[in-house]
Amino acid sequence: MINLVDFTGKKIVVAGASSGIGQASAVTLSRLWGQMILVARREDKLNETLGMLEGSGHRYYCADLSNTDVIDGLIGEIVQDCGAIDGLVYSAGVSTARPLKQLTPEILRDVFAVNYFGFIETVRQLTRKGRFNPGMRIVAVSSIASKCGDGGHVAYSGSKAAVDGSVRCIAKELAAKGICINTVAPALTRTAMFEGYIAKYGEDSESYSGLLRRQYLGIVEVQHVANAIAFLMSSAAKFITGICMPVDGGYTSC
Ligand SMILES: NC(=O)c1ccc[n+]([C@@H]2O[C@H](COP(=O)([O-])OP(=O)(O)OC[C@H]3O[C@@H](n4cnc5c(N)ncnc54)[C@H](OP(=O)(O)O)[C@@H]3O)[C@@H](O)[C@H]2O)c1
Repeated sequence: MINLVDFTGKKIVVAGASSGIGQASAVTLSRLWGQMILVARREDKLNETLGMLEGSGHRYYCADLSNTDVIDGLIGEIVQDCGAIDGLVYSAGVSTARPLKQLTPEILRDVFAVNYFGFIETVRQLTRKGRFNPGMRIVAVSSIASKCGDGGHVAYSGSKAAVDGSVRCIAKELAAKGICINTVAPALTRTAMFEGYIAKYGEDSESYSGLLRRQYLGIVEVQHVANAIAFLMSSAAKFITGICMPVDGGYTSC
């Protein structure tokens, strides 16, 4: 008997662990015996996630990852407290819908700050000598928006395409260090983002029925994404690097 998805003794940083996909990923990885290091801005919500985890030895750190200046200090503190790290799930992100004519440089910068710059700096700081264990695995939460265009999503789609593009390059650079890095690309997933979509369009709208025609397996649940992340984080995915795995209910197959 073998269990290929087992994180016993593995210390895994989950950025964006205070809600949604990041929270579900942290809970799932803890059920697979991983030691979780949770990061986000809201302490009350991080505490909530902490209470949902199985096993012991988990911790959380409050940080605003859109401020790249704090990331070196944050990773340094985590490594000092917990030792070298075995994995990173980067699920911190924002989605701001604005038509092009309203898309000011400030809004564009705000979206890229957490979705892209925060991600790259977190990976850069975590992959410095002494901060990671050999075989470290990294998964970022991208989106089908990195490939599929939609009105109002210029900044969001651009930030996710930037993540996917950079991950292909980082995979090559970090292979020599024994690090693998990939992304998952969910379609519309039942989180606060989904509630916002339904509040805007309604379940009876043409927009929603059109969406379900493309996303023909239905709305993605956070657990579906967390499962894909657990696989890519595990030794079962040992030879997989530089890819973007859709978790999209069939959206990109149409
Ligand atoms: N839901 C969907 O339909 C969907 C589809 C495709 C891709 N995604 C992607 O999935 C990822 C997670 O989204 P979600 O749906 O789970 O949304 P969510 O529930 O709003 O979670 C976003 C997470 O990011 C954290 N975060 C946001 N800004 C941050 C900052 N400046 N510094 C540190 N943490 C920050 C939030 O924590 P704090 O507010 O506590 O900081 C929260 O934990 C995002 O990258 C999103 O683009 C979502």
